[in-house]
Amino acid sequence: MLLAIETSCDETAAAVLDPGSGEILSNVIHSQVDDHRIHGGVVPELASRCHVAALPGVVARALAEAGVGWSSVEALAVTRGPGLATSLLTGVVYARGLAMRLGVPLFGVNHLAGHLHSIWIGKDLLETPVYPHLVLLVSGGHTCLVHRTGLDAWTVMGQTLDDAAGEALDKGARLMGLGYPGGPEVQRTAAGGDAAAVAFPRGNPPPGSGGWAFPFSFSGLKTALLYHLRKHPDDTGAARLPHVAASYQEAVVDTLVRRVEQAVATVPAMVIGCAGGVARNTRLREKLAAAGRRLGVPVRFADPLLCADNAAMIAAAAQVCYRPFFPQGTGVDVTPGLPVDVR
Ligand code: KG4
Ligand code: ZN
Repeated sequence: MLLAIETSCDETAAAVLDPGSGEILSNVIHSQVDDHRIHGGVVPELASRCHVAALPGVVARALAEAGVGWSSVEALAVTRGPGLATSLLTGVVYARGLAMRLGVPLFGVNHLAGHLHSIWIGKDLLETPVYPHLVLLVSGGHTCLVHRTGLDAWTVMGQTLDDAAGEALDKGARLMGLGYPGGPEVQRTAAGGDAAAVAFPRGNPPPGSGGWAFPFSFSGLKTALLYHLRKHPDDTGAARLPHVAASYQEAVVDTLVRRVEQAVATVPAMVIGCAGGVARNTRLREKLAAAGRRLGVPVRFADPLLCADNAAMIAAAAQVCYRPFFPQGTGVDVTPGLPVDVR
């Protein structure tokens, strides 16, 4: 059994994968969102202390739910970056201790490789990826478009130059007086709103900006919302807010979908994938699926349960992208700024 641990931000997570059958036997996620809510965002020092407290229980639950004991664990995986340094450190130190105690190999996994691979986890079962494919990875910390040509081969085609898509939703939600985390709040408030009510900009930077063929930018959109609300203070009232939220959400979604359409026109892709916390967004799912139909390319979304940070995706990436290449495990230290395309 492969036991994976994820503590890159504010979710303490552990999962057990049966490498023989490719089945995810358990996937336990302890979210700290209630611990951070009063602060309106993740407080790193608080997150690491919560990880330390939660890790033993979360790991024990993952083993119990999988119905396996310590003696069955023959490999470990842990997120080594990117993420919050002190959060990563708690998971890595814990996993290193376990690896020494159990005498098993430990794989230090790139969190983003986990998100990339999450689209290939079917109903609790690893599926065989189809190459080449394109993945739109959208979370609170990352927005990037990745072209994947093999198990261990992925190239970044574009990244955000400023805010991530989830960050734009979180900050936008705060401006609208909505709660944290903002993405789900914007989606809930937008239901029934008119997405054409406010003409927010869909301003991706020109190709080549920041050195990316397909750069993203959301800071202009956030500023447009700020100015709109200053000019129309009544728009945060119950009658108008759904329209503003729907319009804002639509601008984020259109910006993302447009980039995917442009990228598919320039590189071969058998599948378009979408992963990360923002991939839970129902409007993004609708519009990206529609774009896929127009382009004649099937779209695969990570299962909603695997969109947010979780250890099942870390287990999957370890098993598929690391184990065949480094049977003894990888040297594991934290790398908070680990880039997407470094394994
Ligand atoms: O992947 P994730 O759980 O953590 C990071 O690695 O960042 O993503 C969290 C982000 C937050 O910005 C949150 O607002 C956003 O995902 N999010 C959503 C939805 N659910 C979570 N955004 C839009 N619609 C949702 N339903
Ligand atoms: Zn993540």
